[in-house]
Amino acid sequence: MSTTTGAFLAGGIAACGAVTVTHSFETVKIRLQLQGELQTKSEVAKKYNGVLHGVKVILQNEGPRGLFRGIGSAYFYQVLLNGCRLGFYEPIRSNLTTSVYSDPKVQSLGVNVFAGAASGVIGAAAGSPFFLVKTRLQSFSPFLPVGTQHNYKNSFDGLSKIYKSEGVKGIYRGVDAAMIRTAFGSAVQLPTYFFAKRRLSHHLGMQEGPALHLASSAASGFVVCCFMHPPDTIMARMYNQTGNLYAGPLDCLVKTVRKEGLLAIYKGFFAHLARILPHTILTLSLAEQTNKFMRRVEDRVLPDSLREKL
Ligand SMILES: *[C@@H]1O[C@H](CO)[C@@H](O)[C@H](O)[C@H]1NC(C)=O
Ligand SMILES: *[C@@H]1O[C@H](CO)[C@@H](O)[C@H](O)[C@H]1NC(C)=O
Repeated sequence: MSTTTGAFLAGGIAACGAVTVTHSFETVKIRLQLQGELQTKSEVAKKYNGVLHGVKVILQNEGPRGLFRGIGSAYFYQVLLNGCRLGFYEPIRSNLTTSVYSDPKVQSLGVNVFAGAASGVIGAAAGSPFFLVKTRLQSFSPFLPVGTQHNYKNSFDGLSKIYKSEGVKGIYRGVDAAMIRTAFGSAVQLPTYFFAKRRLSHHLGMQEGPALHLASSAASGFVVCCFMHPPDTIMARMYNQTGNLYAGPLDCLVKTVRKEGLLAIYKGFFAHLARILPHTILTLSLAEQTNKFMRRVEDRVLPDSLREKL
């Protein structure tokens, strides 16, 4: 990639493309995570029975519009997350490297993983208001509602309504849960990717190339989902509440497990998996295409002197 701006645009476009394809599963996931909140198994009147049933009933009752509720907020979130990852990763990594090693050129997996997780957490905090509105838009349904029903027209209508009624505190509700969730996800992503890659080439003799990248990112996506799903469920519930249910993420975890059992934190797991696997694979392969495209555009429109400054 020749410029930071180009990398930002290419990454953003790739992420939004992947989000478009997988958003339906995200909507089903949110509804499964909120269904039966703080109710014992026998009390729950199940409206959604899993990934495929969820997609089917939403499509039947609400049409494609139902599945794509909150997609605008999802795009804003992705762009913010991608921007923060890109903007903060290198400064954090290089500062940390110089303070830990005498040679600033050292590439340490530990430092790189930490820088990746830290920049992801900053992005999650910055994008939290959009994730909050997205969660509320996705749980809204005129037919089979779960969660508090807020009738926001779009992300900005949602943000302004929350700000008017609950102030800045309302806008940043659940930001702690969002940061924990992303820290879990980012911390395991890179190490499991490299671990899977090593194992696959060692034991199955797979060669460096698209097939190995695909298999390693699928394996890493699965592990990320296992680690990230419990804090993701807690986050969805923190975003749904208006402050009267839980004091914080830990309180939410304790109350959830006590009332619904340990497996409750894995509600919506398969919908999450159905979102994460194609998302990881698409982001990787789309990123290659959009990077190539941006480089071509830049080569054509930017003079060399300008290119270095951006
Ligand atoms: C440390 O980070 C700052 C930005 O926060 C950056 O300007 C500086 O170049 C970094 N230092 C090193 C050694 O990379
Ligand atoms: C969502 O939040 C509201 C308000 O805090 C709460 O009453 C409700 O139990 C929560 N969960 C669901 C599934 O509605």
